[in-house]
Amino acid sequence: MSHTSYKSAKTRLQRSELAVPGSSPKMFEKALNSSADYIFLDLEDAVSPNDKISARENVIKALKELDWRGHGKTISVRINGLDTHYMYRDVVELMMQAGEYIDTLLIPKVGVRDDVYMVDCMVTQIEQERELKNKVGLECLIESALGMVNIEEIAQSSDRLEALHFGVADFAASLRARTVVIGGLNPDYPGDQWHHGLSKLVATCRAFGLRPIDGPFGDIQDPDGYVKAAKRGAAIGIEGKWAIHPSQIEHANDVFSPPASEVDKAKRIIEELAKAAAEGRGAAQLDGRMIDAASERMAENIVNIDNLIQSKK
Ligand code: GLV
Ligand code: MG
Repeated sequence: MSHTSYKSAKTRLQRSELAVPGSSPKMFEKALNSSADYIFLDLEDAVSPNDKISARENVIKALKELDWRGHGKTISVRINGLDTHYMYRDVVELMMQAGEYIDTLLIPKVGVRDDVYMVDCMVTQIEQERELKNKVGLECLIESALGMVNIEEIAQSSDRLEALHFGVADFAASLRARTVVIGGLNPDYPGDQWHHGLSKLVATCRAFGLRPIDGPFGDIQDPDGYVKAAKRGAAIGIEGKWAIHPSQIEHANDVFSPPASEVDKAKRIIEELAKAAAEGRGAAQLDGRMIDAASERMAENIVNIDNLIQSKK
């Protein structure tokens, strides 16, 4: 290991993150009782400009009146972007009226580290003024060319930062990629055209102790396409994926939970290496394959996420 390392953000299970428009309060109760690990109440792109103010009021009411944490949810709010005049009031009203009920704020279209600095500064001042006990976390959507090229400095912009999300729809728009669908593969491209962005986001998150989360998959009639996209993410270290329809929640929970056979194998790797160490050996064999200290680190990742899942049951 390098002499330099970054502390991991607060541990939270974030396999599935249900997006709920703040302008649709009738969906709040269903979200509360869903099996999503995480919910974000949206004030941004799922809310039309005419509904921005009422959506904010709905969200504040829902934060205060519904017991999200009691239902095992991490509760987040996606505020409007820094390029809109809604953003400052989103932060002020949410924090002043309901800061104690918010786990994280999700900042969309982050382009530079100062975008996060501004939100952090506002949140900090309001937390201090209101003497709030909980520390509200921040999460950023990386979904523009600017955000992607500045991702490393964004990742180090605040000690409130917990996760970076890959926003494939806005990212496609920002790159002017030849598509009008949200996520999924373009048959004109030999492979996954989003691989580079997603992979860069994973490496950056892991370097700086953040959770890497994949964003939306628009075709809600295509569960198979959703599962494949989620599995591509899981294969490279993504921890969870958005559900923009309740039908996608179970698929995300399933893909981002290591199967029992994998957990069992991970535990056997750890046991086998402990035996080898007791005999003064660093490497061992298991099921016909060599294993060593790197295998143990991979195995520990699996056991740790499984422990988190089991503790939620
Ligand atoms: C999410 O906000 C996206 O743009 O994909
Ligand atoms: Mg977006």
